[in-house]
Amino acid sequence: MKTDVLLGLQWGDEGKGKIVDVLTPQYDIVARFQGGPNAGHTIEFEDKKFVLHTIPSGIFNPKSINIIGNGVLVDPFILDKELKRLKTSGMDVTKNLFISRKAHLILPTHRLLDTVYERAKGEKKIGSTLKGIGPAYTDKTSRNGIRVGDLETEQFQESYSEAQNRHFKLASLYDKNYLKVEIEGLPFAQYEALWLEKLQLIKGLKKIDSEYYLAEALKENKKILAEGAQGTMLDVDFGSYPFVTSSNTTSAGVCNGLGLAPSTIGSIFGIFKAYCTRVGSGPFPTELFDDSGKELQVKGNEFGATTGRPRRCGWLDLPALKYAVMINGVTELMMMKADVLSGFDEVKVATHYIVDGKETNKIPFSCNQVVVEPVYQTFPGWQENLTEVKTFDDLPENFKNYIRFIESEVGVPIKLVSVGPDREQTILL
Ligand code: GDP
Ligand code: IMO
Ligand code: MG
Repeated sequence: MKTDVLLGLQWGDEGKGKIVDVLTPQYDIVARFQGGPNAGHTIEFEDKKFVLHTIPSGIFNPKSINIIGNGVLVDPFILDKELKRLKTSGMDVTKNLFISRKAHLILPTHRLLDTVYERAKGEKKIGSTLKGIGPAYTDKTSRNGIRVGDLETEQFQESYSEAQNRHFKLASLYDKNYLKVEIEGLPFAQYEALWLEKLQLIKGLKKIDSEYYLAEALKENKKILAEGAQGTMLDVDFGSYPFVTSSNTTSAGVCNGLGLAPSTIGSIFGIFKAYCTRVGSGPFPTELFDDSGKELQVKGNEFGATTGRPRRCGWLDLPALKYAVMINGVTELMMMKADVLSGFDEVKVATHYIVDGKETNKIPFSCNQVVVEPVYQTFPGWQENLTEVKTFDDLPENFKNYIRFIESEVGVPIKLVSVGPDREQTILL
């Protein structure tokens, strides 16, 4: 068997959590391969709502094994909160949640540094979720990180103190009052004490070498689904750098983040909203500042699942979508939040851009330094409520034309349309 991949094609929050949950019954294993608690993946079923940050979205199926891969960053404080939320719903996930020994830890001082760095950037801030992602990945690549497996060694305490001293020195270069930075609304020392307590929790979880575990699983013909976090336009190499996250959110990241060989990758499900959103700073060519933007935000309930920040909204951006399909090698598209577009007189799609007076359908090298003017094609809207629709045939004709146009432009079939946050509000094409 091969490993299928599900990942976001835009700026994150496409609805990955919902679809991973929908697809999980078809898989034996669901695995996160990058990112960390900057992610917020929402799952709704039977009038219940969960937001997962580190735990894979396959966790609601007791038959599936869920793996936090080596490419993921783990914050014990946040993981503890996630586990407690599941426990209060009667779920004991400790039997089917495995964590890679090679996953790196987010230390309290990584979060401190994230805040200090962002403040120092002033107007140029990334709009980070402040979960310590950038500083923790920096330590990983500069070979200073601490891994989950290190918790079981005697050197842990020494490595932790060394890292903390180094981080304090760094923070003091930016802000003399760095110890006044609050984390989770708490003074540093108080937060750190809680964080240290939660290390016991990680010690209690089942640790694996994900590369061996998954290679064995593939030999046994098990089906694996890799769950992306963030989105392609936030990829550290191919996103709108520097307004990106610090990992490879694209399909290539699956191999590094789980220890899988490229030849073992199967289908690549690319998931996108019927329009666009972005949370945090950075270029967003089709962003709307008018009533339509507000309407998308309100109808789509576009507020971040991790930080609660309002998401910026705009029309679908085809050059960006085509770019994401190309980078990831997407084999099937999934369109999310189609219901949100009902009620507009007209719906627009950016087909290309004007940059420096010239038409282009490519993403410019640095879209925050040039003016990228989208050129739109306008479609007649539809008024019907889609949230109860169960089959493609029952969808309004104008919406079908919208879908067909996107498919023909992108050259990849749309295999799923989502018409509401609930598991059941999913139409397979
Ligand atoms: P993720 O990070 O990609 O998993 O997405 P988020 O959970 O951050 O954001 C997606 C939001 O849209 C969540 O609140 C979902 O419950 C919701 N959602 C998912 N699919 C749909 C849909 O088809 N229609 C509507 N209206 N909401 C949806
Ligand atoms: P999911 O998995 C949307 C954005 C932040 C910021 C930038 C860098 O839920 O789709 P970071 O915390 O990584 O330093 O932030 O990336 N960002 C996300 N936006 N969805 C996410 O995850 C995101 N994770 C990070 O808003 O602009
Ligand atoms: Mg999200």
